[in-house]
Amino acid sequence: MKVLILGSGGREHALAWAVKRSKRVTEVVCAPGNGGIAQVARCVPVDLKDLDAMVRLAVDEQPGLIVVGPELPLSLGIVDALQEHGLRVFGPTRAAAMLESSKSFAKRFLQRHNIPTGKYAVCNTAAEFEEAIEMFHAPLVVKADGLAAGKGVIICHSRQTAIEAAQGLFTGAMLGAAEQQVVIEEFLEGDEISFLCLTDGKHVAPLAPAQDHKCIGEGDTGPNTGGMGVYSTDAMLDEGMKEWILRHIAEPTVRGMAQEDTPFTGVLYCGLMMTARGPQVLEFNARFGDPETQAILLRLESDLVEALEACIDGRLGEIEMRWSPGASACVVASSAGYPGSYKTGFPISGLSAAAQIPGVQVFHSGSSRVGGQLLTAGGRVLGVTAAAPSLEQALALAYKAMAEIEFEGIYYRRDIGHRALRKKP
Ligand code: AMP
Ligand code: GLY
Repeated sequence: MKVLILGSGGREHALAWAVKRSKRVTEVVCAPGNGGIAQVARCVPVDLKDLDAMVRLAVDEQPGLIVVGPELPLSLGIVDALQEHGLRVFGPTRAAAMLESSKSFAKRFLQRHNIPTGKYAVCNTAAEFEEAIEMFHAPLVVKADGLAAGKGVIICHSRQTAIEAAQGLFTGAMLGAAEQQVVIEEFLEGDEISFLCLTDGKHVAPLAPAQDHKCIGEGDTGPNTGGMGVYSTDAMLDEGMKEWILRHIAEPTVRGMAQEDTPFTGVLYCGLMMTARGPQVLEFNARFGDPETQAILLRLESDLVEALEACIDGRLGEIEMRWSPGASACVVASSAGYPGSYKTGFPISGLSAAAQIPGVQVFHSGSSRVGGQLLTAGGRVLGVTAAAPSLEQALALAYKAMAEIEFEGIYYRRDIGHRALRKKP
């Protein structure tokens, strides 16, 4: 079977790598892909904002399975469009992807279904915001309703800064386009967990849990990024807690979406805060996480394609996913200046030495191949990923591999996994 993956980041590199390992797969095509993905897949250019171009490509290629990586095409309705052409596609419809593409939709949905989440208000104007904010204490969180590539969440330490942030969102000064709705949320404290599940619209199969590191700086300081590293261990969620999250969060979400005639199939990514009053939903994503997927798929022992197909066919209840015990970690190497402005086009060296270290896979987030040479081509450039029996070993392998890699201005956090390591007696 031929598999088409839409996307161009580290997540898609990990998906292509995992899909290619399936016995059923003869060819992997990735659109548009990147320099690293080209080592495991045939890359074809496409604009991920252009629905018609993606559909044309898929109709030409006639893959047996299409996997959609990023949120933008999902929010544009790529799954609906591909299904209309009789293609088999893994991912939620446009209506179901609203769990990610509209924060007000997600919050109201959570409230309707009694799923644990922080207190919130949805505001349509700056005046409404000023009134609603009286009900909240600082610190509080102000969010753009729509997709904002990680830039739409502002943590505010006073009501005044929150009012200014909301004004920036409503006028468009903050994100370029004016927001119609702004959400205020209670600030939740605790450890964050990325709890990803596959779902066929009815059954729910959790993936290995993961913890992302969103801040650029060590010790979780500085501005938010797309994710600077992630780790996954069994110990980060005990069986009881995992069951609780399934019963009270993931399953009621899938049931609620089905009841509302917008069944959700694909990956339901529950972004959770483990608070003193239990796990609370911070956000949903309607897709695989990046860089979570890099660490998670390194622990997957069973066939990914079989699981994705079971989601499409409503047979997820019949299959069992197997995970390697132990741990994995992914450390992201970024360009100097990221998440602000940065330069690209610098040669990357040391990749083959890094890849020779047993247990290590280097996934490319932003690279391009020009005349046989790999060059940096993004803010996040590489996700150096390793699996091992313990988190300490996985991190040691990832950092050993990272030490082999060079490009001008390379930056990475040296403290990935610090919360888990600190908790150890
Ligand atoms: P979101 O895109 O909604 O996940 O927000 C991005 C990041 O902002 C999350 O991963 C959290 O680190 C932080 N965040 C979002 N909402 C809250 C909240 N209510 N309380 C504390 N932190 C939050
Ligand atoms: N790593 C966070 C995300 O994929 O949204």
